[in-house]
Amino acid sequence: MVQYKEDNPTYYIRYDNDIPTAKFRLKKLPYCSAIVMLCSLEVFPDHRGKGVAKEIFRFVEQEAIRLKYTTILCTDVESNTPMRKTLKRCGWGDVHKTTNQNTGNTVYLTIKNLKNMDKRKATIFLTGFFSLVSFVSFLILNIWN
Ligand SMILES: CC(C)(COP(=O)(O)OP(=O)(O)OC[C@H]1O[C@@H](n2cnc3c(N)ncnc32)[C@H](O)[C@@H]1OP(=O)(O)O)[C@@H](O)C(=O)NCCC(=O)NCCS
Repeated sequence: MVQYKEDNPTYYIRYDNDIPTAKFRLKKLPYCSAIVMLCSLEVFPDHRGKGVAKEIFRFVEQEAIRLKYTTILCTDVESNTPMRKTLKRCGWGDVHKTTNQNTGNTVYLTIKNLKNMDKRKATIFLTGFFSLVSFVSFLILNIWN
């Protein structure tokens, strides 16, 4: 019997008080160590509509950064409103739209650029730092005078 097996699956299961609530995979793109693909995401039916997907997206971004990826990509279909909303809320951007010839579905290729997150964090840090320096300088000048 001929069998085909997928290479190197990486499954994550999300538990809530030991109860499995969701699963997903983060799979490295073949031949490219910069990009990882989020796939097979499923919040189990009893746990949907409670913000679990949004929380998973936060974890996925932290995990991808920890594993030194700079981009995450995923595909989803136009009719999947919860998934579309989650991607938009979490700052993912559509980079391509196509029609699946097998199913007739409108499919989006969507990415999260993690390098931008580093820049955003650096901007927030520098803004905070210079505000603090200005405030301390202002206090010192007032005490001095
Ligand atoms: C898509 C999926 C992962 C979303 O998970 P979830 O934990 O239920 O999502 P959340 O509770 O975080 O909700 C995300 C958003 O969708 C909205 N939403 C949730 N269920 C909805 C529904 N049935 N119809 C319309 N909007 C819905 C939420 O209000 C929320 O919107 P907001 O950002 O405006 O608050 C989940 O529905 C699922 O596992 N579906 C089956 C598998 C699947 O489609 N996987 C994705 C493959 S690409």
